[in-house]
Amino acid sequence: MCGIVGYIGRRSAAPVLLEGLKRLEYRGYDSAGIAVLQGGCFTVVKRKGRVRELERAGNLEGNVGIGHTRWATHGAPSERNAHPHVYGKFAVVHNGILENFAALKEECLQRGEAFASETDSEVIAHFIAHAYHGDFLQAVRDAVARLSGSFAIAVLCSDYPDCMIAVREKSPLIVGTGEKEAMVASDLPAIAAEGMRAYSLADGESALIRADGVVFYDSDCHPIEKNSVSYSCESDAPRLGEYPHFMLKEIAEIPKSVSRTLEEPFPSELDGLLRSTERIYIVACGTAYHSGIAAKYAIETLARVPVEVHIASEFRYSDPILSPHALVLAVSQSGETADTIAAAKLAKELGATVIAVVNVVGSSLTEVADFALYTRAGREISVAATKSFNAQLALLYRFACRLAEAKGRSCDFASLKNLAPLAARTVELSRRIAEWSGDFTRAKCVYFLGRGADYGTALEGSLKLKEISYLPGEGYPAGELKHGSLALVGRDTPVVVLLTQTALAEKTMNAVHEVEARGATVYLVTSLRDYADATAHTLVIPSCVECFSPVLAVIPLQLLAYHTAVSMGRDPDKPRNLAKSVTVE
Ligand code: G6P
Repeated sequence: MCGIVGYIGRRSAAPVLLEGLKRLEYRGYDSAGIAVLQGGCFTVVKRKGRVRELERAGNLEGNVGIGHTRWATHGAPSERNAHPHVYGKFAVVHNGILENFAALKEECLQRGEAFASETDSEVIAHFIAHAYHGDFLQAVRDAVARLSGSFAIAVLCSDYPDCMIAVREKSPLIVGTGEKEAMVASDLPAIAAEGMRAYSLADGESALIRADGVVFYDSDCHPIEKNSVSYSCESDAPRLGEYPHFMLKEIAEIPKSVSRTLEEPFPSELDGLLRSTERIYIVACGTAYHSGIAAKYAIETLARVPVEVHIASEFRYSDPILSPHALVLAVSQSGETADTIAAAKLAKELGATVIAVVNVVGSSLTEVADFALYTRAGREISVAATKSFNAQLALLYRFACRLAEAKGRSCDFASLKNLAPLAARTVELSRRIAEWSGDFTRAKCVYFLGRGADYGTALEGSLKLKEISYLPGEGYPAGELKHGSLALVGRDTPVVVLLTQTALAEKTMNAVHEVEARGATVYLVTSLRDYADATAHTLVIPSCVECFSPVLAVIPLQLLAYHTAVSMGRDPDKPRNLAKSVTVE
């Protein structure tokens, strides 16, 4: 989703801004722009498409500037709607959504002001200009007081070439300080790459940024001291190396993600909490939600504690009824997903203990939660999540074992240790899946079927294929197909069937026969050797404790999505209309 970068200091701003924007490219965007201030004038370059298009504009003079990658919400992706927005003496970049933008825009129109874009963001520049009577900081404060919704903004004023102002409200913003230079960015990589000290703004906080120092303010505009956040060099952008795409590289990294996640110490202070937990709620979005669906089976099987899995954007507006002694797991790769953060906040307000399951240290969700458990997938660049899903499962399986133990049930922890080597074998075996992809590129729709733990895998397999190949598809409980969707199954709808649960295998095979009888070709992914010859297209993957099997069974489906997308000429790392980090509702 949108990315912000701002720079002020001894160096020329434009190259730093472009490099920073490139490091935020993984978030997903459709247009980009920069504004550089020199001699009291802004030079603005905007382009639809990639950041590299901005480089063609040549080097822009000036030591202070702001840049942005935009993911369209209000107004189509276009040069005109790209940020920065300049109005009067001000240039603004904005992440988030202004909920009262229509009313604010109407006010501006009443004042006779003309708009250059269809965005909600442009009103911010108008309101700052309107509030400006010579004091830059005061004008920003007065304008911000009128905004409602979520925003992170960076602002320049042509009267103040030596400073930049940043404000955060429900959308992440990091300030970086270095030797006679400073930056602001929506995400750490842009700042980490410059080796700067990083400070994370909290909601309501702002910063007056100069090359030789930054003053932070709380929501009441009082100056405050802030501690810098630590980050590892992994915050710097990983390289592709021998791989054609990050997605393929990240799938190859699954075994490492799983083993590192399982090695992570589990806080012993959670044991008391687990003993008293009577119900688990998992809230998440997208792939993280699917990890919850798949992990529910492991938690309920091993610990016999009931689990409800909720889509965070539904949970937050459902007036949820949480049982006493409820424990909420908010699962998120980025830790910045707006709906998941809101769901976690609501759960806390309702008295639940919230554990964040996140991949990014220091992310916003960790600030909301009572505890954070970290997946150690490492940075994930490809927009569609892969290795982070497997790491979430590994962590949730470990959680299931600890909960089982806290409930006095025996649990085979050793079986967890095998998962990483088994994942490595599954990655190897799954190379064959490239042969299947040709049949999928011609599909009208693709079905993914599974029962029990396999249902979560089916959902994720379908989402991956949709996200990056743009083929319609559905993940379905194998037993439910006959209640409607079977009407759509035929020769042009390949059906991928997951079969890893012995007790449900014959039931799932009924669905195989049903779809084959309608002319569909079945592609079977199974860990059950008895079914190795069940269909003409069968991939046998390693077997493990059956409730853990999604962590392995999803690998061929991730690769199937990858190879299908590549065969169709899609860029799997940057799918259309999809952002890595969805920081708006
Ligand atoms: C976006 C991403 C998905 C991700 C989802 C939730 O839709 O494109 O890959 O699964 O957000 O993100 P989170 O960071 O909360 O796991």
